[in-house]
Amino acid sequence: MAHFERVDIDPDFKTTMDLGAVLPQTAQIKDGHLYIGGVDTVELAKEYGTALYVMDELHIRTQLRNYLEWTRFHWKNVDVVYAGKAFISMAMCKLVEEEGCFLDVSSGGELALALASGFPAERIFSHGNNKTLPELTEAIEAGVGRIVVDSFEELERIDQLACERNLQQSVLIRVTPGVVADTHEYIQTGSEDSKFGFGLKDGLALDAVKRALQLPGVDFRGLHMHIGSQIFALNSYAKAIEVIVHFMDEIREQTGFTVAELDTGGGLGIAYGVPDEPSTIKQYGKVIVDDIKEHCEQHDLPVPRIMVEPGRSIVANAGVTLYTVGTIKAIPNIRTFVAIDGGMTDNIRPALYGARYEPVIANKADKPRDSVVTIAGKHCESGDVVVVNTPLQTAEVGDIVCVFATGAYCQSMASNYNKQVRPGVVFVRDGQSRLVVRRETYDDLMRCEVGL
Ligand code: LLP
Repeated sequence: MAHFERVDIDPDFKTTMDLGAVLPQTAQIKDGHLYIGGVDTVELAKEYGTALYVMDELHIRTQLRNYLEWTRFHWKNVDVVYAGKAFISMAMCKLVEEEGCFLDVSSGGELALALASGFPAERIFSHGNNKTLPELTEAIEAGVGRIVVDSFEELERIDQLACERNLQQSVLIRVTPGVVADTHEYIQTGSEDSKFGFGLKDGLALDAVKRALQLPGVDFRGLHMHIGSQIFALNSYAKAIEVIVHFMDEIREQTGFTVAELDTGGGLGIAYGVPDEPSTIKQYGKVIVDDIKEHCEQHDLPVPRIMVEPGRSIVANAGVTLYTVGTIKAIPNIRTFVAIDGGMTDNIRPALYGARYEPVIANKADKPRDSVVTIAGKHCESGDVVVVNTPLQTAEVGDIVCVFATGAYCQSMASNYNKQVRPGVVFVRDGQSRLVVRRETYDDLMRCEVGL
């Protein structure tokens, strides 16, 4: 086992409910089974098959409402832009719309899906460091509310496309504030050495703003930043806000233009494991809004319309993945592999980032996690694991394993490696379940084949 160090770990004897903040809001134990949204997850596994993503609708709505409440508590002019890359489906778009939030799309595909769900185009923000010409055209023709501009080339393309259609496209300019957020380097985005946005120190951000102000097809509204993801230390935001508000002052000085909108991106961390203690949405809202207000006051700038762009913290803990145990391989004095009917195709995060998860056995959810195992996937690589060396209730073939906090960046990053069909997604609420994305079929796997 080259990949995983052998570490002696003891069972933690925790039962499911001891996992606290890792769990979906409505998690409960009844008759030894894990229930979410008032629905028995063991029954869900039977009804819809495994692997299966299950999402607690109430949890998602609560998170969206918390963001609205705890940002607007400090400043009335705030909008919450849900980052669809964390998890997007038509049902999710509907829910975001119903809660009065906006939507960030990061590709033409996400835009098409959002529009197909009936999501209002004016509430969509279009993102990406290299939006293709067709993607820009689609966004402009759909009438998206904002395009967040990442490059000089893109500014010119937007201008041309808008002018050809006698339109003006509202844009934000994405700035890299030069702040290194305290998170995994693959998901840091705000440092200067980044493919995203315009740097401040080299003067490129100011040049971009000046150019945007000149272009007739471009309606420059304000600035955007996103310093990274799974951020625990709120002072990373405080630092970036200080820098960006200072830049707003510079823009006014140099161009006479007062920046009217400021989007501070997403990134708030969540609890994947029991020891994780992320900041709350309430604390986050206070830091974002108070710091913007404070720095604007210092620079004698009007407080802009503020946007926040959370993804993970809306959906991660709302979602779980259910799997069935297929084989158990106990290697004496080394480890026990519990193999499930999914793996790196439905959750690439352990292989990609070394991410850790908390699992339980859904049909033994009231029992203590009295053994230590490695939950392995079914794919053809040793690195295909869901959790290495994890406490778990004693597993038997046929048990339903539930892995928590998989609502963000699992389904959206899922693949068909080994021609695995991707799992379906079920929303649960008030004792009811509804399938919102069906499991793929073999026909789906072959639908792009055009012949021999
Ligand atoms: N806004 C922008 C421009 C972003 O690029 C992102 C995430 C967000 C908002 C939402 O960030 P969140 O609140 O979800 O942290 N695949 C990685 C995460 C990549 C994040 C990409 N950008 C993972 O699985 O951890």
